Amino acid sequence: MSLFRKKSLTAMLANAEDSTNGLQRTLGAGNLIALGIGAIIGAGLFVRTAAAAGQSAGPAVTISFIIAAIGCAFAGLCYAEFAAMIPIAGSAYAYSYVTLGELVAWIIGWALIMEYALGAATVSIAWSEYLNKLFGGSIPYEWCHSPFESFTDSAGVLHQGMINAPALLILGLITLLLIKGTQESAIVNAVIVFIKVGIVLLFIGIGWQFIKPENHTPYLIPEGTAAVVDSAGKVIADYSPFNKHGWGGVLGGAAVVFFAFIGFDAVSTAAQEAKNPKRDMPIGILGSLVVCTILYILFGHVLTGVANWKEFVDPEKGREASVAYAISAYMTGYGWLAQAVTIAILAGFSSVILVMLMGQSRIFYSMSNDGLIPKAFGELHPKFRTPYKANIILFVFVGLFAAFVPGHVAGDLTSFGTLFAFVLVSIGVWVLRVKSPELERPFKTPMVPLVSSLGVIVCTSMIFVLDATTLKVAFGWMALGLIVYFVYSKKRSKLQNPSDIIPKASDFEKH
Ligand code: ALA
Repeated sequence: MSLFRKKSLTAMLANAEDSTNGLQRTLGAGNLIALGIGAIIGAGLFVRTAAAAGQSAGPAVTISFIIAAIGCAFAGLCYAEFAAMIPIAGSAYAYSYVTLGELVAWIIGWALIMEYALGAATVSIAWSEYLNKLFGGSIPYEWCHSPFESFTDSAGVLHQGMINAPALLILGLITLLLIKGTQESAIVNAVIVFIKVGIVLLFIGIGWQFIKPENHTPYLIPEGTAAVVDSAGKVIADYSPFNKHGWGGVLGGAAVVFFAFIGFDAVSTAAQEAKNPKRDMPIGILGSLVVCTILYILFGHVLTGVANWKEFVDPEKGREASVAYAISAYMTGYGWLAQAVTIAILAGFSSVILVMLMGQSRIFYSMSNDGLIPKAFGELHPKFRTPYKANIILFVFVGLFAAFVPGHVAGDLTSFGTLFAFVLVSIGVWVLRVKSPELERPFKTPMVPLVSSLGVIVCTSMIFVLDATTLKVAFGWMALGLIVYFVYSKKRSKLQNPSDIIPKASDFEKH
């Protein structure tokens, strides 16, 4: 059997048609944009904007946002073509199974674990930071940081992280909700989106008056900027590498804030619930991307104008819970806004975690139905009709990362997984154009192969400016994936038995 055997597109499309009997098509374009924004605005904006500014981009984090958005737009256009053409859960994994074959689909599925599972871990770590902030920093450092983190306070006392307990707590609660069959209705999502966007707009509107022009000068981190050290003399930010200052730093920042855009592709996993996927999928994917890009640029401008970017690397200032820090420290009279931001962020993060865990369990479900991973991942709860075993296994896996790995490591791995999927989706669009030009494409990515090639180039360059450690871990993860495929999945693939390879949409309960 060839490693490049493909699923039949006709069978896949027939299943998509059939899905009207299972998941109800209730979501319109507005709901899909709201769903996208619900999954997009989270830790990336509220945590990583400051991290990118402090560690590599300075105030030019706004330009980092523009670069990341351009990369996403190229990939987003390609996703839009696929999602309108193959409106079925499984997203990039499913698209590549029909276009590039089983091995590539497996690789994408494996990379998507980094996107969704580690994405959930990253956001749960950020959730923990903000919970601690809400409690006035009263959660002991040891109990809300991984063993790889430590800091020496001004009294010279060394604090060593042990376990991130709040991150585990939120993951556990959301897993329970998912097993119970969370009906993440469009209305509940719209309420969370309304709160999140409202708070972002309030911060931009009010914060604008507190911008100090000197915080924006110079706009790029100058070459030769001295490293920042903590009170024990440990280097906490080194600006000498090429991707930590100047334009290299802006590009490095783009790779960091890229995380803030992750989620627009999750809109494509709701394709089976869209009323009119042919028209509304592209609107949902690209519309949420446009709205978020505008908000992000304005947000980055205000945040780095209110507080100085150097404060965002200082553990005793704005390294954690940076937005609340900037408000409390500089926006006199708006203490209530810091509290409101914190509560809105906690609610917002929860919806991101929910969508990520849900997306991951659906991808596992598809892979399990294809025989590539054990059957347990595809088993549904007898009463709740949710893939509960997948949810429990996922909780253990994601929980280990959330409890014991620092947030920025999990976050960068998430970016790697997503960028990797984007590259393959961009290639897939072109491949399918060449191989099956006759297929009906309700939405066509403009200027293929130019746009798809640019998607590949921009996303690949963002991969290579990620930290060297991130790249090593990510390649290790992908290598492990290949071993699993050749040792386990290849011989169990159901593609040899086409009658039962297609996941039944009706197996899922309506979310
Ligand atoms: N874009 C999502 C976030 O920033 C993953 O939290």
